[in-house]
Amino acid sequence: MNENIQPNQQIFLKNASYYTPDGFKSGNILVENGKITEIYTEMPDLTGIDQPVLLYDVKDKKVLPGAIDTHVHVREPGWPEREDFFSGTAAALAGGITTICQMPNTQPTPHDLSSLAEMQQAAKPKLLCDMAVYAAAGYDNREQLAALAQEGICGFKTFLQFSNSNIKAPKYITVHNRQELEELLAASAKTGLRHFFHCEDYDLITRLEAAAHQCGAEGYAFHYQTRPDSTELKAVQQVLHAARKTGAKVGIAHVSTVAAAEAIRQAKANGLDVTCEVCFHHLFFDDSWLDRFGPWAKCNPPLRSTANVAGLWPYLSDGTVDYIGSDHAPHLTEAKEQGKEQIWLAPSGIAHIELLLPMLLNAVNEQKITLERMTELCCVNGYKQMGLYPQKGQIAIGADADFTIIDLTKEWQFSADKLQTKARQNAHLFDGLQLHGAVEATIVRGQLQYAAGRVDYQTVGYGQILNCHQKWE
Ligand code: DOR
Ligand code: ZN
Repeated sequence: MNENIQPNQQIFLKNASYYTPDGFKSGNILVENGKITEIYTEMPDLTGIDQPVLLYDVKDKKVLPGAIDTHVHVREPGWPEREDFFSGTAAALAGGITTICQMPNTQPTPHDLSSLAEMQQAAKPKLLCDMAVYAAAGYDNREQLAALAQEGICGFKTFLQFSNSNIKAPKYITVHNRQELEELLAASAKTGLRHFFHCEDYDLITRLEAAAHQCGAEGYAFHYQTRPDSTELKAVQQVLHAARKTGAKVGIAHVSTVAAAEAIRQAKANGLDVTCEVCFHHLFFDDSWLDRFGPWAKCNPPLRSTANVAGLWPYLSDGTVDYIGSDHAPHLTEAKEQGKEQIWLAPSGIAHIELLLPMLLNAVNEQKITLERMTELCCVNGYKQMGLYPQKGQIAIGADADFTIIDLTKEWQFSADKLQTKARQNAHLFDGLQLHGAVEATIVRGQLQYAAGRVDYQTVGYGQILNCHQKWE
């Protein structure tokens, strides 16, 4: 489908204030055939140019390298009714994101060459933005990792134990004990790719849940009370220990507690090759949201105490946290509603990719973080970690023309009804949030895919599956 869509042959971003690692600069950015080909200090004379030129005046806006969301659960193959690649990437674009990294807890999981190809085939005709893919890694498919590593995946993902009781645990994505973990990491170490982990100690959680049920515990607090901070810390320590033993490169997904962030800070200081992702809900929403909204605010790891929410911020600026993702995890409304009376019956996950950048821009306006550091965390470092830099993640001649154009002055109110995700019904908990700072437009390889509140659906199939970890010139 739509394989003929080519990026606009030529576009100019006029009057741009654009991000560079040395600070924001002013210029006029010329894009040809999807790449940045020139950056002019003065706008050149365009008379006599015969190619079509799209002139986009971005005066008073900021131009960032297109944002990457390192943690997205599109539900294909398996459950397209929850989110398919079309709706998922439309939502990404509306959130200012030009590349998503697709998580592998689908049905089937991409755990060998044929299941990986199945996911890629499902995605290809439907993508509106670009996509990198994590392969599933579990004890049972450890012998497939070498072959999978040749396929341009961004890395491996393992759930220390599958954490979501409402989705049946697929086989090839878990390890069940320390020994399995070490054997698996020994296999991924040989590939040189990074191995990412969902860190929660499921054994401990299961015991706490059983005890809570025995006491007749009810109420929405059940969810976070049975997943205390220690359940994350213990799992993180296990992964760090196994990484030290095997020499594997590891990444900790959605770190939600100060204790885990501190453990990672220390491990980095001691020379371990570990990266740290934080998902934005853990930076903004505390467990009182779970008390109020129950299943709609249920995710894993859970929303945490105010002390954790506030305590994670210093780790953004000291370099412990490498990048910020969303953990966009759509579910059917009927499934979520099952948890209204008994929270443990609801599946975990919040569908909020469209809120990631707006929340961070609002934080920039509140001076909780600088625009420069936010840009590194959302638009640069993820590409470095996924082996896509410098093709993506910079505004420089020769790079892909991916841009997130933002308006830091705009004030607006969030409304879930306007979302692109299929799971918009699940995002009503955020209705009424007053935000200062907005995504104005999203450009993927020179193609204006989102502007003035509209996604260009005509370009379905334009998004590419990215080949990560190539040897760049
Ligand atoms: O809340 C979550 N939902 N956490 C996860 O790790 C998985 C995700 C999902 O796939 O629904
Ligand atoms: Zn996730």
